[in-house]
Formats: sequence, structure tokens, C-alpha cells
Amino acid sequence: MPDAEENHHHRDVSSSNPAMANGKGVLWIFFLLSLMVLLEDFVHADPEDVACLSGVKGSIQDPANRLMGWTGDKLKTPCNGTISELEGVTCNNERVFKLSFAGFGLVGSISPFISNCTNLQSLDMSANRFTGEIPTELQYLVNLAVLNLSVNELTGLIPPSLILCAYLNVIDLHNNRLTGSIPPQLGLLTRLSAFDVSKNKLQGMIPPSLVNRSGVLPRFNASSFLGNKELYGYPLPTPKSHGLSVIAIVGIGLGSGMLSLVVSFTAVCIWLRVTEQGYAAEEGKITHLMPEY
Ligand SMILES: *[C@@H]1O[C@H](CO)[C@@H](O)[C@H](O)[C@H]1NC(C)=O
Ligand SMILES: *[C@@H]1O[C@H](CO)[C@@H](O)[C@H](O)[C@H]1NC(C)=O
Ligand SMILES: *[C@@H]1O[C@H](CO)[C@@H](O)[C@H](O)[C@H]1NC(C)=O
Ligand SMILES: *[C@@H]1O[C@H](CO)[C@@H](O)[C@H](O)[C@H]1NC(C)=O
Ligand SMILES: *[C@@H]1O[C@H](CO)[C@@H](O)[C@H](O)[C@H]1NC(C)=O
Repeated sequence: MPDAEENHHHRDVSSSNPAMANGKGVLWIFFLLSLMVLLEDFVHADPEDVACLSGVKGSIQDPANRLMGWTGDKLKTPCNGTISELEGVTCNNERVFKLSFAGFGLVGSISPFISNCTNLQSLDMSANRFTGEIPTELQYLVNLAVLNLSVNELTGLIPPSLILCAYLNVIDLHNNRLTGSIPPQLGLLTRLSAFDVSKNKLQGMIPPSLVNRSGVLPRFNASSFLGNKELYGYPLPTPKSHGLSVIAIVGIGLGSGMLSLVVSFTAVCIWLRVTEQGYAAEEGKITHLMPEY
């Protein structure tokens, strides 16, 4: 009965199948568990953060070696929970949360790749020697609350698209070489509580949206705008050209008065001398004509 035997054999095989499947399942679970443990130790690296930090590193020189540790595996795993082994980097929930390079002596430009750090809430690149423009890509940092690029050598315009960073609390761009006018849109950032663009090369009128904000919104005073030669309007003190010209007119008047006095005095003196000499000569002639006794 080959049929029955085959059937039996078949049944045997099929009866052993669940056991084998169970064994495989256990193996799989074990494999997955060990993979998880491995990953736990390996740390999840967010590809956007890695792209961001590699881009940032690629656009700067670091003469003081402050970012010396930004290499290899450390750069590929920026965050371990809230901990980062990278100098200047702070993490939160495995994501880059804060970049603080204040006074690191860095040279270079601000990388557009910084926009790949999509969870960034604070960017402080102040007091370095960054040149070039403020990248418009900062607009993609929709969680950004603090932007401090002060005391650098940045040129170009203040990007109006910063309005897209709706959580901005602090915009500090003082002491750079920024040109153009202040984008009036920035006044619409309702959370803005600190704004400083003093000591740049900005021009035009200060947008009333920043200095005459409605209700409880903080208004920014002259100290936010001072040191931009061609910037004007409230709250900057009105240019003193009028006062200066009055002083100049008085000065010119006094000066020319003195000068004309001196000139006429000299003229009188010369005339007096000339006439005196004339008299003397006349007198001489007279004495000469006098008969000698
Ligand atoms: C980085 O950002 C750019 C544009 O902002 C985007 O095109 C690119 O895909 C991002 N890279 C990664 C790895 O997310
Ligand atoms: C991540 O941090 C944990 C605890 O803080 C530590 O045990 C682990 O070794 C760290 N992993 C890496 C790759 O640094
Ligand atoms: C921005 O950075 C500069 C220099 O590091 C610092 O003096 C200033 O207080 C910072 N601005 C804000 C608003 O924190
Ligand atoms: C500021 O706003 C008030 C009304 O809220 C207005 O009367 C005043 O002229 C404005 N000043 C400037 C400089 O825009
Ligand atoms: C201008 O505002 C700043 C804070 O934003 C404050 O520290 C400073 O005293 C103010 N200056 C004047 C002249 O009101």
C-alpha cells in the first residue's frame, strides 16, 4: 500500500512542521531581541541630523580645534538620548536640539545644510568669524526659537523668509555687515521678545511693525537699531543735521566776521604805515628844503 505509506509519511512530515515553525519562531525572536539590544547600544542616528552636522562641519575651518571630536562614528551618531559627544551639540529625544558655538573662533560660512537639523530650537553661532550670507534655508527650521548670529562678519540681506520660523523668540544679528532694509514681516513674529540688528550696514526706514507693535507685544527701542548709518525713523533719535548746520552757520559767520576784522585791521595798519611814510618823506623834503643856518 504505497499510497497509505506515502500518506502516513506525509502526515509525519506535516505533524513535524509546527514544531519546526516554533523553533524558527524562537530563533527569530532571539535574533530580533539581540538586534534590538545591539541597536540600543548603537544609538538611533537621525539621517537628517547627520546630514546637518556633516554640512556644518564641511563649511567651517576650526583654527582653535574646538570641533576636533566631530569625526567618524561620533559624527554619524550625534545623539544618544539627551547626550551628545559632539562639542556644542545638545540633544533631546535623540534629535539635535541646540547648537552653541559662541566664541569658538570658527571661520567660514553658515551651511544651508543646517536646515536638515529639523528639530533645532536654538542656533548660537555668535562671536566667531563667519562670513557670507545668512542662508534662506533657515526658514525650514520651523521649531527655531533662538537665532544668535551676532558678532560675525556676515554680509547680504536679512532673509524675510525668517517669518516662517514662527516660534522665533530671539533674533540677534548685531555687529555684522548686513545690508539692505529690515524686512517688515519680522514684526509679525508674535513671540519675538529680543531683536538686535545694531552695528550693521542696514538702511531705510525702521518698520513700524517692529517698534510700534500692538497690545502686549514687546516693542524694540533704539538700542536694537543703533550703529547703522543709513537706518532712520522712530525710535532712532532724529538726525542732528539741523542742529549741526546751525552750529556750522554760526561758526562760519563768526569765522568770516573775525577774518574780515583781521583783514580790515591789517588794511588800516598798512594804510597808516604808508601814509606815515608819506608824511615822513614829505617831512624829509620839507627839512631838506629848509634853509641851513
Ligand atoms: C537636507 O535638506 C535638503 C533641503 O533642505 C533636502 O533636499 C535633503 O533631502 C535633506 N537631506 C536629508 C538627508 O534629509
Ligand atoms: C549611550 O548612553 C548610555 C547611557 O547614558 C550608555 O550606556 C551607552 O553606552 C551610550 N551609547 C553610546 C554608543 O555611546
Ligand atoms: C548673542 O550672543 C552674544 C555673544 O555671544 C551675547 O553677548 C548675546 O547676549 C546673545 N544674545 C542674546 C539675545 O542672548
Ligand atoms: C504708533 O501707533 C500709534 C497708534 O497705535 C500711532 O498713533 C502712532 O502714530 C504710531 N507711531 C509710529 C511711529 O508709527
Ligand atoms: C531698550 O530695551 C532693552 C531691552 O530690550 C533694555 O535693556 C534697555 O534698557 C532699553 N533701553 C532704553 C533706552 O530704554
